[in-house]
Amino acid sequence: MHIKAYAKLNLTLDILGRREDGYHDLQMVMQSVDLCDELTVTPASGEGRMSTTLSYLPCDGRNLAQQAARAFRERTGSELRVDIHIQKRIPVCAGLGGGSSDAAAVLRAMNELTGAALTPRELAEIGGAVGSDVPYCVLGGTVLAQGRGERLTPLPALPPCHVVVCKPSFSVSTPQLFTAADRVRLHLRPDTPGMLQALEERDLAGAARRLYNVFADVLPPQRGKEIQDITGSLLGCGALGACMSGTGPSVFGLFDDPAAARSAYTQLAGAYQDTFLCHTVSEPCAE
Ligand code: C5P
Repeated sequence: MHIKAYAKLNLTLDILGRREDGYHDLQMVMQSVDLCDELTVTPASGEGRMSTTLSYLPCDGRNLAQQAARAFRERTGSELRVDIHIQKRIPVCAGLGGGSSDAAAVLRAMNELTGAALTPRELAEIGGAVGSDVPYCVLGGTVLAQGRGERLTPLPALPPCHVVVCKPSFSVSTPQLFTAADRVRLHLRPDTPGMLQALEERDLAGAARRLYNVFADVLPPQRGKEIQDITGSLLGCGALGACMSGTGPSVFGLFDDPAAARSAYTQLAGAYQDTFLCHTVSEPCAE
């Protein structure tokens, strides 16, 4: 089975509080884009093997795709073993949910291959045990994710637009960034109700104006400056709004004008190898 695993963007990301289990209660408006990994999932005769086009990625139980296959078997009682090959295009450790999206794609593939006929909600629940972003990646599209990331409310789709994604070369530790956020008082927060209203009104410019991620303010200063510079370049090229995704370091800009998006892409791709020109996806689960 061939299946696409789309990258996700955080249109908003807010931390509401720290929980007793060490996780955080979040409020995030998420969006899929057509920057994607491609998976081939095949019933295996033996234990099931895994490979990817990136030699440095672990292909054992540390890989979220393998964990998803195991979680599916445990939950459904299926004994299906699968060979998984992933053609990676989504940069790794980038705030774009690449590993989570691969895991979600494996859940959807195994659901088809076994005929288990679980609903997307049931698959999302299995995904929650694999990682906080996996439930969203099972559903995809434009969604409000709350709690640890498992409380999902589908939203009116973000109006179609051009998206430029740019990942600087430094990497960010997700747990460390959560710890950094715990230590400060977050003064600036996303206007989540305003974002929901803009989506309701199919107002792309209104949604783009409300892009906001609290993690951008708790990065180490030098890193924060680089994120601001990329954000400034996107806006300078005519983006309607720009913001960091997840715990970074990827930054994205939303464009209604294809020529402006192309020019932002060309400018940033000259300085950053991991720069992509892509588009929003409204219903990835349907494909
Ligand atoms: O669930 P996942 O493995 O993707 O989370 C990675 C890390 O991100 C967790 O170990 C935790 O430190 C942090 N996290 C959090 N609250 C969330 C999601 C993730 O604190 N809602």
